[in-house]
Amino acid sequence: MSRIVYVNGDYLPEEDAKISIFDRGFVMADSVYEVVSVLDGKLIDFDGHLVRLSRSLDALEIGNPLSDDAYLAMFRELVSRNDITDGMIYLQVTRGNPGDRDFAYPPAETPQTVVAFTQSKPGLADSPAARKGWSVVTLPDQRWGRRDIKTTQLLYPSMAKMAAKAKGADDAWLVEDGKVTEGTSNNVYIVKGNKIITRELSHDILHGITRAAVLRLAKEAQMQVEERGFTVEEAQDADEAFVTSASAFVMPVTEIDGAKIGAGTPGKTAARLREIYLDEMRRIAI
Ligand code: PDD
Repeated sequence: MSRIVYVNGDYLPEEDAKISIFDRGFVMADSVYEVVSVLDGKLIDFDGHLVRLSRSLDALEIGNPLSDDAYLAMFRELVSRNDITDGMIYLQVTRGNPGDRDFAYPPAETPQTVVAFTQSKPGLADSPAARKGWSVVTLPDQRWGRRDIKTTQLLYPSMAKMAAKAKGADDAWLVEDGKVTEGTSNNVYIVKGNKIITRELSHDILHGITRAAVLRLAKEAQMQVEERGFTVEEAQDADEAFVTSASAFVMPVTEIDGAKIGAGTPGKTAARLREIYLDEMRRIAI
């Protein structure tokens, strides 16, 4: 059975899905996206992702073509038509197709392009990697200055992922002005003593939806949280390190640039947060 995807109101087999070569998303990366996890056929933190979608669209003055209810119905339809138990939904909204290439934005009434598709990942929450932990290497952060907007300009993160793989690592941590910003597609944390340290929100990082939920749950569990940047050396010297994202949830990091973190095995704080996060998210999934 071919995957059924969503394109501008239609549900189509993936091979029939078509977008214009003039679409701003294609020629200018003039588009934003969201990735929402699906566990047991239900959407994880759907509301959080829609709030950020709207924030990204607003920041770029792209109109939001659908209501929250319409996105919800569409996501559920995709989950159902593709028989997804565990996996992800990818949603992308572009500024649309002006019919030609031009640096200036097209008139506001140009219809936005909306596409979405599912990725099936059976056993997504039971990842062997979470039991082993990731190794990461550090690289300079060469992305643009508005990383808080979730755009599809993903070439540098993609290059960084390839550079990490070439060194036998699982991911890269990006560094700017001596401090770690983010992973290629996740927010970063270290644990020192009883404190969880993660970079503060600004234009320099994506405001992770998983980050928001994990920090809220950590505080509810009486854990101490400090929002500030940290250096690679501080991270290498930490008791634990981990990352968060919609697809990796809470993922321990056990090695940074060849240096083992703590005992070199996933730490108890990361393991506990992963458990609390997954329990709560499954409980409130819709
Ligand atoms: N990436 N930082 C960056 C640069 C990201 O691309 C992501 C997510 C995050 C974590 O955000 P959230 O918790 O809302 O997923 C942080 C998604 C998963 C992706 O591109 O596939």
